[in-house]
Amino acid sequence: MGTGALGSLFGGLLTEAGHDTLLLGRYGQISELQNLRIKTMNNERNVAVRTTRDPMMLADSELLLFTMKSYSIDDAIRQLPAELFDDCIVLALQNGIGHLERMRNVIQNGIILAGVTYQAATLIQTGYVIHAAVGPTVLGPLGKDDRVAAESAAEALTVGGIPSKVVDDINRELWIKLLINAAINPLAAITGMKNGDLVNDPEVMNMMWAVIKEGSSVCEKLGVRIRKEDIFQRVIEVTEATAGNRSSMLQDVTKGRKTEIEAINGVIVENGRRLGLETPVNEKLFSRVVSLTKFKVDD
Ligand code: PAF
Repeated sequence: MGTGALGSLFGGLLTEAGHDTLLLGRYGQISELQNLRIKTMNNERNVAVRTTRDPMMLADSELLLFTMKSYSIDDAIRQLPAELFDDCIVLALQNGIGHLERMRNVIQNGIILAGVTYQAATLIQTGYVIHAAVGPTVLGPLGKDDRVAAESAAEALTVGGIPSKVVDDINRELWIKLLINAAINPLAAITGMKNGDLVNDPEVMNMMWAVIKEGSSVCEKLGVRIRKEDIFQRVIEVTEATAGNRSSMLQDVTKGRKTEIEAINGVIVENGRRLGLETPVNEKLFSRVVSLTKFKVDD
């Protein structure tokens, strides 16, 4: 569910690997999605993806991937038959933090897995995606009994060409990804730069370091064990690995869509306020991105 850059890419890769995959699309998207085009550095190919507009068709799924934006999760869940969650593992792959609590409030009994992915994808148009870089995907169970489900989901993804592993502390991974996104995404959205160009700009690099320092203080207060120097290094590595990619927030701003700024830098600002920590640089980036998308419609 979620046929943006990541959902289209995952749908295509899993189909190619022989998984029985079904993409839930909206009105007007179906024919483009059925003949999905994936472009990489080395090749460009079409994949015949099974597609539906009917959420009930997902009822027998073993694994449901949520690849929509975090702010669209509540709407997505409302579309699905409630019984689906009794037998189906749901894997949420959103950027940011906050969506899992909202999911748990609604899906009270089902298995929810949280995940972060460093796969880089750019959506050119519906049904045409650039796979800009292969990166790791990390999953973790929310419930203590759900490790086996997480292992089987990771295996299915890995077999499907999406290298994935399970970790014990997924909350820490979510924060690490949040800090990386907080440093890259708003600066890409504001400057219009591709990920790889951000690290060549000293002013951008200073801002990134400030974002990470503020975010790391929040993490420290929350007991999330990370080192700001390591995160900064990871940001450099991610921007290098995804150099040709336009960050998801830049894609959103360009297409006039709502962004995930609230779930990313907004979470740093909000937690900072609650914990009595100053986060001026995150606040500034937050306001700037909000103002860029002020008159835009939701996805
Ligand atoms: O949001 C994004 O764009 C991605 O999470 C990442 C890894 C920064 C690549 O662009």
